[in-house]
Amino acid sequence: MKYTKTKAVLNQLVADLSQMSMIIHQTHWYMRGPNFLKLHPLMDEFMEEIDSQLDVISERLIALDGSPYSTLKEMVENG
Ligand SMILES: [Fe+2]
Repeated sequence: MKYTKTKAVLNQLVADLSQMSMIIHQTHWYMRGPNFLKLHPLMDEFMEEIDSQLDVISERLIALDGSPYSTLKEMVENG
C-alpha cells in the first residue's frame, strides 16, 4: 500500500479541520455583543477558507487512492 503515512496525516487533517469548522459555525450562530457585526461575517470567512482547504486535502487523498472521512461519525471518532 502506497503513501500510508501521508494518507493517515491528511485524513487526520480532514477530521480536525471539519471539527474546527463546526466549532466556528457554532460561534457564528451564538455570538452576541458589541462586536457582533464585525465578528459575525469574519466567521463566514474562516469557514469558507477551512472548507476550501478541506476540499483540496480530500481531493488529494482521493488522488492517492485514499478515503477521506466524510461522515459525522468518522469526524467525531477521529478528530
Ligand atoms: Fe450568519
